[in-house]
Amino acid sequence: MDSPESNKSYFQNWVSVIGGIGSLVVFALIVFLVALEYWAKDVNPYLGIITYLVAPVFLAIFLVLIPVGALQERSRRKRHLASRRFPQIDFNNPKHQQWAYTAIGIGTLFFLCSVYGTYRAYEYTESVKFCGLVCHDVMEPEYTAYHHSPHARVACVQCHIGNGAEYYLRSKIRGSYQMYSVLAKKYSRPIKTPIHNLRPAQETCEQCHWPQQFFGAVEQDHQYFLSDENNTPWKTRMLMFVGGGIPPYGKKEGIHWHMNINSKVYYVATDEKRQEIPWVKRIGPDGKEEVFVQEGTKYSAALPPKGEMRLMDCMDCHNRPSHNFKSPEETVNEAMAYGAIDRTLPFIKKEAVKSLVGKYENRQEAEKGIRASLEGYYQKKYPQVWEQNRDSLNRSIETVQHIYRDNFFPEMKVSWKEYPDNIGHLMFPGCFRCHDGKHKSAEGRVISNECNICHNIVSQGKPEAMESGVDGLPFHHPDEDTADAWKDMKCMDCHTGGAM
Ligand code: HEC
Ligand code: HEC
Ligand code: HEC
Ligand code: HEC
Ligand code: HEC
Ligand code: HEC
Repeated sequence: MDSPESNKSYFQNWVSVIGGIGSLVVFALIVFLVALEYWAKDVNPYLGIITYLVAPVFLAIFLVLIPVGALQERSRRKRHLASRRFPQIDFNNPKHQQWAYTAIGIGTLFFLCSVYGTYRAYEYTESVKFCGLVCHDVMEPEYTAYHHSPHARVACVQCHIGNGAEYYLRSKIRGSYQMYSVLAKKYSRPIKTPIHNLRPAQETCEQCHWPQQFFGAVEQDHQYFLSDENNTPWKTRMLMFVGGGIPPYGKKEGIHWHMNINSKVYYVATDEKRQEIPWVKRIGPDGKEEVFVQEGTKYSAALPPKGEMRLMDCMDCHNRPSHNFKSPEETVNEAMAYGAIDRTLPFIKKEAVKSLVGKYENRQEAEKGIRASLEGYYQKKYPQVWEQNRDSLNRSIETVQHIYRDNFFPEMKVSWKEYPDNIGHLMFPGCFRCHDGKHKSAEGRVISNECNICHNIVSQGKPEAMESGVDGLPFHHPDEDTADAWKDMKCMDCHTGGAM
């Protein structure tokens, strides 16, 4: 009964041999890519996809082939089928040689192509176009704002996913649910923030921005127009103390002091959007802890509110680095400053802002509404201006419509109001969430709200009567009627970004 085959291993068959060679090749490829990712400085975030997703799939397929071949072989022998032996390849035979090289060549090419193809497919799913356009209606606000941001050339994935397989997988798992929610129309409008599993800033922002680089001050120029008939201009020039990166440079600790280089700041917020922060802990370079608790709350150093204790990072201030929906006050001031809205039109500041904050269901309605509101106003109140300045009024109206298109997305219920911006303190609590002068430590120290710890005003006023002083001026509020009210109130109590 014994055939000469029965003492040979079941693994000696074509399928298993291909599986074996294939898995060796893929394994070597994976080792190479892992080494590349480890040593190369500037790896493409997509490399991880081949290393950890594409190649392993091939490896698994090849590995499975090995036992599959053996099982097949076994059942074939059990059924006493005449067995075929391997063809004899003789490398001294030029014909065999030619065939072998061709087969290896084609096989390698095929393998490389399929890896490359899969890679490109994945790359596409990660591209800015894919992120912004495939779910077009949902992402339109972020996609539009992104193109006007300083990060317009930074791919979505560089902030939202970063390098390596872990976050790639996490985001794809989440992505599958998001895909479902888009198809089933279950997503929330607007999309809720903060994004809880956003990757820590050290692994995204700090890949490009080096925390230690921050020192000294940068100048900010703010041009405002009041809501009176003359659209009275007002200018504030200030130095923002952005230092803190390298303490020896610059006399002040500066804003980027928070950047965890020597000290750490932890906080607990009591609301979803992290706008109310009654409890803050500072850990100094010597490891000393100091807890600041907001007056008038039930919390204490030993009793923080329930909820996530967050280590402060870039995103706690720069939470809108790329999707900044601007307020009507801000955008109209800007457009007037560079002349896209004619500032000689009486009350144009007030009326343009008013036309933007109207209630509109969609963009077409808004564009009609803005035109009707502004044309109606000048026809009725300033017929002479309407007659003589038709062209410039028309250009101004187009600018206002443009502002609307870039910053308002009624279908997604998105505008500046939905996403508080944590930089500054004019319309949102921002820095004053902690720097309100009411956060006290057991030692009686408060988180400062002195107007000159974060910036100095170097000049301010109407163009014909500017006050200036390099060492910093006391703030002069532009509106005469409310004069010193800002000393006892928060700016945001009056400033909403829309009409006041
Ligand atoms: C410079 C970094 C950066 C880039 C580039 C970037 N984002 Fe964001 N994105 C953020 C941050 C930070 C948030 C806010 C997170 C928070 O508040 O929790 C955010 C929030 C979002 C949100 C939630 C809604 C909102 O408006 O806050 C969406 C949707 C989004 N991004 C989509 C995109 C898309 C699509 C792209 C590419 C076209 C992109 N992002 C590019 C940093 C970035
Ligand atoms: C891929 C590189 C890259 C990443 C990642 C990145 N940035 Fe930037 N960022 C830049 C570049 C380049 C500029 C300068 C753009 C310019 O000057 O027009 C910039 C500018 C800025 C500015 C100054 C904006 C201004 O108005 O001048 C801030 C603030 C900033 N980034 C914050 C962040 C934060 C926060 C993150 C993480 C969420 C981040 N960046 C992630 C490359 C990056
Ligand atoms: C405490 C809040 C806070 C934190 C935390 C913070 N920043 Fe800033 N950053 C500011 C403010 C305020 C400015 C001044 C410019 C402005 O008002 O937009 C600024 C300015 C910048 C600028 C422009 C600087 C220049 O020279 O023009 C960059 C870039 C920047 N930050 C990046 C970062 C990055 C990256 C991180 C995280 C490592 C970070 N910031 C953390 C508040 C913060
Ligand atoms: C989560 C709470 C929190 C937020 C939000 C916050 N800070 Fe701070 N900040 C602190 C704490 C705590 C200190 C240390 C105070 C101390 O020890 O006296 C500090 C210190 C500073 C200092 C150093 C002051 C000094 O003593 O020289 C500056 C400058 C500063 N912050 C700027 C800002 C700016 C600008 C923003 C908004 C963009 C901001 N901070 C938002 C908690 C916060
Ligand atoms: C904790 C830091 C901090 C403190 C304290 C602070 N500011 Fe500011 N302030 C900022 C930052 C950051 C901005 C920049 C906002 C931006 O980049 O548009 C700002 C912006 C401003 C602006 C320009 C507003 C705009 O956005 O057009 C004025 C005016 C101003 N501050 C006045 C004051 C006055 C008055 C006080 C004292 C009551 C004060 N600030 C206290 C951080 C601070
Ligand atoms: C009691 C209400 C009130 C408070 C509090 C207040 N403001 Fe104002 N502010 C006004 C009014 C009213 C105007 C005039 C608006 C106009 O004419 O369009 C104004 C105008 C301004 C303007 C110029 C107008 C513009 O286009 O934005 C700036 C800048 C400003 N305030 C900054 C601040 C800052 C910074 C704070 C906080 C330190 C503050 N204000 C607190 C009521 C207030």
